[in-house]
Amino acid sequence: MISYPIMAGPTAILGVWDGHDAGSAILVEGSLLAAANEERFTRRKLEVHFPEASIGFCLRQAGLRPDQVSRVALSTTDPSKAMTRWLPSLKEENYLLRRRKKLPDWATPYKRRFKFWVTSLRPNCLSRALSSLYASKRLRAMGFRDFELKLVDHHLCHAHSAAVGSGLPTCLVVSLDGVGDGSCGGVWEWAEGPRAGRLREVARLEAWASLGIFFETVTHLMNFREVEDEGKVMTLADYACPVPDADNPMLRMFTVEDLRLASPLSRRSAQVELERLAWRFPADQFAFMAHRTVEVNVLELFRQAMAKTGMKDVAYAGGIAANVKVNRLIREKLGVRSLFVFPHMGDGGLAVGGAWALASELGVPCEPLGSVFLGPGYADEEIERLAAAERGIILEKVASPAKTAAGLIASGEAVFWFQGRMEYGPRALGARSILARPDSLPLKDSLNLRLKRRAWHQPFGPSMLACEASRLLEEYRDAPNPYMTVAYMVKKDCRGSLAGVISADGTCRPQMVPEDDSPYSHLLQELRRLTGLGAVLNTSFNRHGEPIVCSPEDAFRAFSQAAVDHMVIGSFLAKKAGAP
Ligand SMILES: [Fe+2]
Repeated sequence: MISYPIMAGPTAILGVWDGHDAGSAILVEGSLLAAANEERFTRRKLEVHFPEASIGFCLRQAGLRPDQVSRVALSTTDPSKAMTRWLPSLKEENYLLRRRKKLPDWATPYKRRFKFWVTSLRPNCLSRALSSLYASKRLRAMGFRDFELKLVDHHLCHAHSAAVGSGLPTCLVVSLDGVGDGSCGGVWEWAEGPRAGRLREVARLEAWASLGIFFETVTHLMNFREVEDEGKVMTLADYACPVPDADNPMLRMFTVEDLRLASPLSRRSAQVELERLAWRFPADQFAFMAHRTVEVNVLELFRQAMAKTGMKDVAYAGGIAANVKVNRLIREKLGVRSLFVFPHMGDGGLAVGGAWALASELGVPCEPLGSVFLGPGYADEEIERLAAAERGIILEKVASPAKTAAGLIASGEAVFWFQGRMEYGPRALGARSILARPDSLPLKDSLNLRLKRRAWHQPFGPSMLACEASRLLEEYRDAPNPYMTVAYMVKKDCRGSLAGVISADGTCRPQMVPEDDSPYSHLLQELRRLTGLGAVLNTSFNRHGEPIVCSPEDAFRAFSQAAVDHMVIGSFLAKKAGAP
């Protein structure tokens, strides 16, 4: 039985998302106290079920009982979502097929086509009522009482995550993804109102011509997992012999006019055309042409949105915002003054966006996103207790975890690093990371192929002290990006120092860390002292095919099965029994 300390009458808003990468978030008096995705608790990557475990975590973290939450924001109520809420077997089958856990049968292509058709429909009275009924039933079963359930449009959630998260008083807001609530994106102006921020809609993008669905289809045709492996298409494109725009037939599949994205092809005809092109072109060129198509059309959308609104500060979210190379071009080619990309840009971030949207409607001023360390954290005593239950792992208390890890990394070892509260979002940002020297190609290949078992063309990203950014990066302009959301071109004379974390085109996706008292910053400062460079290769701490580790148990399990000798966890150095 869990007991909750009581808080006296706060304005508590729970954000809930129960689709692809389900999750929840809790906002108390405008402060984001906790947010996490269900996959980290169920250990099923990109979990799609109702996020009971993450809701439980958010309440515990905020010190609230379910009956103390009076407002809940639920994202997305289109007919497809309503249907899968009441028929979860459909959702589960789609999840298993997409993740290659179930073999397709003769009906799969027809179901897939039906799914794309139904997901493009707008919400209606019935789908909203069914969604509301379902969520209320699930929440009541968890102990919620007398709460007001607010249904929030899918893209308004993305838009609020970008706008509120940015902390900008006024900005252009863009959301772009596959599809949600009958739309594949939108453009808004964000301006602070008398009590809180407000969005003013400038344009909505119809679901029938979706760049997100286009890129998903390309990913699927390349035998990668759609809505998951789009980054692999992006990185493979770097290795293609470039196809001139005039010879790229995919560029003729979209037009952008007056902030309207359109296609001369029906979705079915587009699918047939893409199948034909996948057969005709080698994989790298197919990926290149698709990436170029996304690049050209996203840039044109942003150019038109900036021209129409006259705004140069931009906040951006939605699945397409995960493309760090396109984000770099938005920053570099369009005269953008500042670009904020919400770090959990895909649907996994909808819970935070929903909570902020409801707070905005209620006139509750919200703090912008600061730290993304919004998940569970564990005290040393708990780590020790859990380690005692693991066979073959020895813990040794160390004076400085940062110095210990930095020494091992400088000597050429890969180190598992588990510190503080878990990150929110797809990137490991120094709480649950695997770290190594950034200048070693053999170490990078070993990590990629043996430890992470990823495609050979996927690069790693670096974490670097923010003060190193201007020395290493060509395009750095005194605005540290702490979230790894935008690529930067690496200076030619620094490419050797960052050889293990550079893409084929000379860019990297850096996390810039302030020089402060956090353990991760200490580690980078110590590395600078030992190696002359305050940077490290940083990749997510997970077992192959699993989500990033959440608890010490997950970390011990991953550590005991990996070909890595050292893990720095809390105040301890963990070693394997019998290891030198
Ligand atoms: Fe979305």
